[in-house]
Amino acid sequence: MHLISIDDLAPADIENLFKLSDGFLEIASRSIKKVPTLRGRTVVNVFLEPSTRTQSSFELAGKRLSADVINIKGSSSSVSKGESLKDSILTLESYRPDIIVMRHPQVGAARMATRYTDASVVNAGDGAGEHPTQCLLDLYSLRRVYGALQGLKVAIVGDVLRSRVARSNVFGFQKMGMDVRLVGPPTLIPPGIEHWGVPVHHSLDALREVDVIYLLRMQLERAKGRVPPVPSLREYSRVWGLSPYAVGPDQRLMHPGPVNRGVEMSADLVDDERALILHQVESGLAMRMAILYQCLAGSLGEEA
Ligand code: CP
Repeated sequence: MHLISIDDLAPADIENLFKLSDGFLEIASRSIKKVPTLRGRTVVNVFLEPSTRTQSSFELAGKRLSADVINIKGSSSSVSKGESLKDSILTLESYRPDIIVMRHPQVGAARMATRYTDASVVNAGDGAGEHPTQCLLDLYSLRRVYGALQGLKVAIVGDVLRSRVARSNVFGFQKMGMDVRLVGPPTLIPPGIEHWGVPVHHSLDALREVDVIYLLRMQLERAKGRVPPVPSLREYSRVWGLSPYAVGPDQRLMHPGPVNRGVEMSADLVDDERALILHQVESGLAMRMAILYQCLAGSLGEEA
């Protein structure tokens, strides 16, 4: 099984990943946090763009499942000497890996990698394309908090234009019966948004009646060499940045991380008890263990 897009999964597949994650979450509370499930299997993490959460959680997920895990990182890989993606994947394929987890700056890179390997490929973020495992961990985090996802109202706010998280979450959240809206200035909403099937609002008033406010990071690194979509970060923060007073007492706040404190949200809101940001990270480890397991479930024996 490959996981390239959230559209690769049906709601029943996602429910199954929740059940697996529940089991793996329990393992994290033990003193010995390791099970032999993927013993003898090889997981290669190829991260050609910076990452803290996704890289560390996939590495730890593989290790807690007893897989052999190797990590290839952009600046220390032969990509920095001009090696192509094709040659990098063909080289790694010589080790007969079972799973390749890949983050890459180009949209479509993970799908392209499937052509050159027999391993399962997991898209850990491809440019402004998709980030399906972020969507799955966000869904799992919400399922842990609310119990049921059907009918939950969510506003996804901010830099939708350059966000792979928005692209996966809009479709994944709707797939699970959630009521999704996008909120942001017109310059941060991508062309063709009418085909996404969600309402778009250009005022923070649209946050009033939602259960969950999902803030997106301003993707500063993708702005290089282009006309900036906002006049300045200070102005963006003044108009669109949230403070604790902008969030209702029963509303929950999510963010994929890393947060630009003081840009999309004030520094004190990051640490507010209504923020689920670290809950998302905790859910991410269990969900990524479930994803690695599910990629190989068909080939694992009864004892797994
Ligand atoms: N949310 C997310 O993908 O974070 P990292 O870039 O740290 O992996």
